[in-house]
Amino acid sequence: MNTEPHAAAPWWTSAVVYQIYPRSFQDSDGDGIGDLRGILQRVDYLAELGVDVVWLSPVYRSPQHDNGYDISDYQDIDPLFGTLDDLDLLTAALHEHGIKVVMDLVVNHTSHEHQWFAESRSAKDSPRRDWYWWRPGRGGMEPGAPGAEPTNWGSLFSGPAWEYDEATGEYYLHLFSREQPDLNWENPAVRQAIYGMMRWWLDRGIDGFRMDVINFISKDVRADGSLPDGPVVSGPYGDPAQGTINGPRVHEFLQEMQREVFGGRRDAVLLVGETPGTTVEDGLLFSDRRRGELDMVFTFEHVSLDQGPAGKFDRKPLDLRDLKATLGRWQTGLADVGWNALYWDNHDQPRIVSRYGDDGRYRVESATMLATVLHLHRGTPYVYQGEELAMTNAHFTSFDAYRDIESLRFVAQSRELGHLTDDQILASLAAVSRDNARTPVQWDSSANAGFTTGKPWIAVNLNHATINAQGQRADRGSVFQYYRQLIMLRHSDPVVQLGDFTMLLPEHPHIYAFSRSLNGTKLFVLGNFSGHDQKADLGQSLSDGAELVIGNYRAPASIVGAIISLRPWEALAIREPGRTRSGGTRP
Ligand code: NOJ
Repeated sequence: MNTEPHAAAPWWTSAVVYQIYPRSFQDSDGDGIGDLRGILQRVDYLAELGVDVVWLSPVYRSPQHDNGYDISDYQDIDPLFGTLDDLDLLTAALHEHGIKVVMDLVVNHTSHEHQWFAESRSAKDSPRRDWYWWRPGRGGMEPGAPGAEPTNWGSLFSGPAWEYDEATGEYYLHLFSREQPDLNWENPAVRQAIYGMMRWWLDRGIDGFRMDVINFISKDVRADGSLPDGPVVSGPYGDPAQGTINGPRVHEFLQEMQREVFGGRRDAVLLVGETPGTTVEDGLLFSDRRRGELDMVFTFEHVSLDQGPAGKFDRKPLDLRDLKATLGRWQTGLADVGWNALYWDNHDQPRIVSRYGDDGRYRVESATMLATVLHLHRGTPYVYQGEELAMTNAHFTSFDAYRDIESLRFVAQSRELGHLTDDQILASLAAVSRDNARTPVQWDSSANAGFTTGKPWIAVNLNHATINAQGQRADRGSVFQYYRQLIMLRHSDPVVQLGDFTMLLPEHPHIYAFSRSLNGTKLFVLGNFSGHDQKADLGQSLSDGAELVIGNYRAPASIVGAIISLRPWEALAIREPGRTRSGGTRP
């Protein structure tokens, strides 16, 4: 079997990335919060799973208003998580297993406690004043009064995107919470400070960055310094998207960053951008290697399809045809020159098995089906901690269980506006609160799931009694073992790595089907997105040489001519041989 990626293909075309949210991964000192030494205790687990890269959510010094996405010192570790020495130890241990380390980097904004902001805020004539977005109130209005903000923008965490600062009588911009002021990338000194800091991390042995909301860094500022209002779609504020997302200089800034930061190290590192509100066309610009910007981007389109017009907390059911149309568009759009980052879960999204699967009766089947479909697309798959165990949503039923700033602000704003009942608010949180992904990793069935000996900062899911890593490592039929197989397939199969993608059966309401092909070899991938038997007509009979590559039911699926019958949440991949072949059994 060919275990090498195509000679000209970047290393990450055959890699799988694992995201760690350190706060919820493993606690080593009993304070109830995960830390770097805790991760160190679990390096063998990561090696057993077989992942190639670990992406660490932020561990920098931070007042933790947004769990580390509010950085107050880019070049130090928060004492909650450990020290720089701990990080070096962890990096060395991961490197020993051939696992690269990618740091999450938040440079659209800092913490309000960052020294840069303290200086910027201190006086209008501070040399760092222009490092952030300071603006006077609207002409003719009393500064600080409601509606006097420089634009009508709402923050992504509810409330206005501007905070009035009495000391100097001006407002500063914060697209997220008021504790997260936006940096002014128009200022070259800001950019140079960021590039210098990034080089410092690379010199320390880090293998790349996941760049938080990196497409927000260029604002649509007019020549007179003003910023445009946004349309009011729902709620009291304007949508800042037009003035802040994929702004006029975003590509220029990223190209500059490439030149200034990466130099000769370009091919060894991974640079993945989080890019909300990005279309396929933008995604292509960001990830076209010849342009020297990012290696790949996270699209949000496929995780917004179950969202109603009032935004994230407004829920509607997923129509599978929309999911196929969306992911299919990204596959085709980025086919030849760009690259996709493939994900279902991360620290901001609810658990996929509870969202697009069935976290009750068919938890194992639906989790493995979803994994099969995702991992066999063209792109680099990302696994979020606990996804490989089919951990479920938290299913919290009371407000006091929630910790996340976005969720808490949503509750406060909804109550203030009075348009939703408490039960409706709780139902929205149960469906999409970010805390669903943030309950501690379930290592075993003991008290606190083996996560901590102290009191966990957020409740452990009670289902850790039956859903946990210890049980699944020992069970050949587990979700964990299935993820291992998928990761091995990504490492070994050139069709999975580099094959072309064709969506099949786009109009089928329950079956997700596609083929991948390379040098005459074809891989058919099918997933049943329902708890009922379904039939798929491939339109062509499989040859005698067709092999089952992977499937999530023990007994083979029934195939008669071109018709494949799929059981509830069943998934399988079949290889039609061409010039490249490897082992497997006929379904
Ligand atoms: C995106 C991150 O993924 C999220 O967790 C964070 O709250 C915002 N950016 C702000 O940094």
